[in-house]
Amino acid sequence: MKPPRPFYQPLAIGAPEPLRELPVKLERMIHFVPPHIEKVTAKVPELARQVDVVLGNLEDAIPADAKEAARNGFIAMAKATDFGATGLWTRINALNSPWVLDDINQVVASIGNKLDVIMLPKVEGAWDIHYLDQLLAQLEARHSIKRPILIHAILETAQGVNNVESIAAASPRMHGMSLGPADLAASRGMKTTRVGGGHPDYVVLADGKTGDVRQKFQQDLWHYTTAKMVDACMAAGIKPFYGPFGDSSDLAGCEPQFRNSFLMGCAGAWTLHPTQVAIAKRVFSPDPAEVAMAKKIIAAMPDGSGAVMIDGKMQDDATWKQAKVVVDLAKLVASKDPELATRYGF
Ligand code: GLV
Ligand code: MG
Repeated sequence: MKPPRPFYQPLAIGAPEPLRELPVKLERMIHFVPPHIEKVTAKVPELARQVDVVLGNLEDAIPADAKEAARNGFIAMAKATDFGATGLWTRINALNSPWVLDDINQVVASIGNKLDVIMLPKVEGAWDIHYLDQLLAQLEARHSIKRPILIHAILETAQGVNNVESIAAASPRMHGMSLGPADLAASRGMKTTRVGGGHPDYVVLADGKTGDVRQKFQQDLWHYTTAKMVDACMAAGIKPFYGPFGDSSDLAGCEPQFRNSFLMGCAGAWTLHPTQVAIAKRVFSPDPAEVAMAKKIIAAMPDGSGAVMIDGKMQDDATWKQAKVVVDLAKLVASKDPELATRYGF
């Protein structure tokens, strides 16, 4: 492991200083755009006003013969659009693919000063982050990029999950990590063809005897990985995200998958279809009733110490910290959403 002082030194002469803290940003949904489809990119200026992050996807789901069109489409769309406070990200192709070097070179050269985050798929270990980190520093120096482009890893291989802690702590360039349930299922040999979400056969049965009709309870296939990812990310000071929920017609199923990840600590999820944007907005903005309770706790313990009873429940230093997580997020949401600001009472 690199010692602390060199850890924060730029990796190339002339590259911008690595960040010590992540920029504070609302990233409830990372909205995926296929940039080779002009009908879709034409709507990006309007989309940028509705979502927290716009991501131009260059990797899976983009056909091999459209990889160049997607890269060029992404660059054109990035140049033509004023994103304001909305994040601009891209998902590049995997490091072992024939397209990735051109993805990185061309994107940084042409829109490096507008790009916030590069999402790197199929990360297996810290070595993948170190490679991209070094290359980005060289390109940032060459193209006079003013602030470091951050890296977001997709956790989608068994090896990546084994190495999740070292990936999260690999570089000050790390922004966060997303669960990639489709690739991860394949890599692990899970027997599901779904992209995220549950599976009707992954159940436990209520107690009973042979012959009884016993209630079935479907379990969450992603609970273990999400928990592992959240711990690795939060310990390293970076942000965890749930990834895709592939069945865009199942809005009822998508909502609890997103909500479980929110309750477990995730900051947002991917949205692959416009109908999922409203769900992510609802789920990853704290519930006004929860915010009201959190505000009560903070008002009752302004310096965060001691113990008080509120509505029959004991509050102490730890619940004050829980309340602060909720109120800090509510303030961030309120700064962007006047309607929620009113409902939160800010
Ligand atoms: C996302 O990339 C996934 O594989 O689920
Ligand atoms: Mg994937």
